[in-house]
Amino acid sequence: MDLQIHASATTSVPPAFKKILVPWSVQGQLRPPIITHAKGSYFFDRDGKRYLDLTSGYVAVSLGHGHPKVVKAIQDQAERLCWVASSYFNDVRAEYAELLNTISPWREGLRVHYACGGAEANDDAVKIARLVTQRSKILTAYRSYHGGTLGASSLTGVDRWRDPTPAMPGSVKFFTPYPYRSPFFTRDPREETDRAIEHLKQVLSHEGAQNVAAILMEPVTGSSGIVVYPNGYLQRVRELCDQHGILLIFDEIMTGFGRTGAPFAATRLGVAPDMMSFAKGASSSYTPLGGVLVRETVASHFDDRLFDVGHTHAGHVLAVAGGLAALKVYLEEGLFERGLEIEQWLRDGLGELKRRHPVIGDVRGIGAQFGIELVRDATSREPLVEWHHPGGSVPMKAFYGELLRRGVHAYGRYNVVIVTPPLTISRDELQEGFDALDAALTVMEGRL
Ligand SMILES: Cc1ncc(COP(=O)(O)O)c(C=O)c1O
Repeated sequence: MDLQIHASATTSVPPAFKKILVPWSVQGQLRPPIITHAKGSYFFDRDGKRYLDLTSGYVAVSLGHGHPKVVKAIQDQAERLCWVASSYFNDVRAEYAELLNTISPWREGLRVHYACGGAEANDDAVKIARLVTQRSKILTAYRSYHGGTLGASSLTGVDRWRDPTPAMPGSVKFFTPYPYRSPFFTRDPREETDRAIEHLKQVLSHEGAQNVAAILMEPVTGSSGIVVYPNGYLQRVRELCDQHGILLIFDEIMTGFGRTGAPFAATRLGVAPDMMSFAKGASSSYTPLGGVLVRETVASHFDDRLFDVGHTHAGHVLAVAGGLAALKVYLEEGLFERGLEIEQWLRDGLGELKRRHPVIGDVRGIGAQFGIELVRDATSREPLVEWHHPGGSVPMKAFYGELLRRGVHAYGRYNVVIVTPPLTISRDELQEGFDALDAALTVMEGRL
């Protein structure tokens, strides 16, 4: 992740806040508002100013803030049991696993490995793939984000150059389709898919497909560009994996739990991987919950072999209780399908902004996971700000600052702005977001 953190009206930073190292930020430049509470699609600062959460926090608070049923379940669980060693059975962990099975993309069912967040889940998925296949290499996309641990940042495709640590041995990158800015020199999605698959075949051939444990991908890329792959691409990656005995892992940390208008992107796109990592929306970020969903035929490998993966907080009961309550709410309130309705609103609203603002080169997304890509020139598609600009660029900081001034929170990466509202947002609330984007784009264009 990389955030464009923005100045706010707060002028002085109280000393206690200076004792915190704020992630992904140049510390001395920070003037964020001080947030004290939240409700529904909004959070509030200590002066009572209201902010529309247009990105569901870090694309995670999908139920909006403070859903009473989830809050109550966490409170009740805290009184009963917060933690017990992962080596014991526990009713909450089992009930959640059973309910996850009802939304499984695999007819054979799944088993759950619990972790506390996305990066940890991806690290563990890699370990599982290596244990199962006894192979070492892991292929990931150049344009990807998989998390901030040493393992997950090795798997991450963007900005590796910024991390001074040598990558995890065995991590190998490949290019994936990006129809708007093709790495395969074409503007034809079919040709893009064919060439991307040919490229992947060559990477497999040069790396030795027999050495590759897994291909790990976001089925729709998240903070590294919100790229929706052309039809058929993921299906063909699946076929290549089957051909070579390689496990396909979907990083569903952002796309899972309704974000794409279905329980998982795998469901929406009709491509079943072998494992899916999850976090973020699983508990709507009310509790730090993540994990790996492993299809039964892969999980059963460990019935007579050591499952040598785990953490003190794996299956933390309070965290899982948050996930269980959130999943019940997603199902009861039909929120997995809600993304389809929001998709239409986003297409219409962001499409209208694109007509009004030449700086918007592309509007793309699926479900409630959209992005707008900003350009200097719509014909040449020259990015508005260069990629790999550590700390954020002047125009984008001005843009996010203006949004915040108008009471709207959003973030993005370089020239791509993420628009991923809570699945509970109303049409009127979303319109507030469009109006603020409209105004902030006008201000930014005036300064270019
Ligand atoms: C697709 C994807 N994978 C992994 C992660 C890492 O998750 P976490 O920040 O919970 O470690 C993120 C977080 O932004 C993500 O978007």
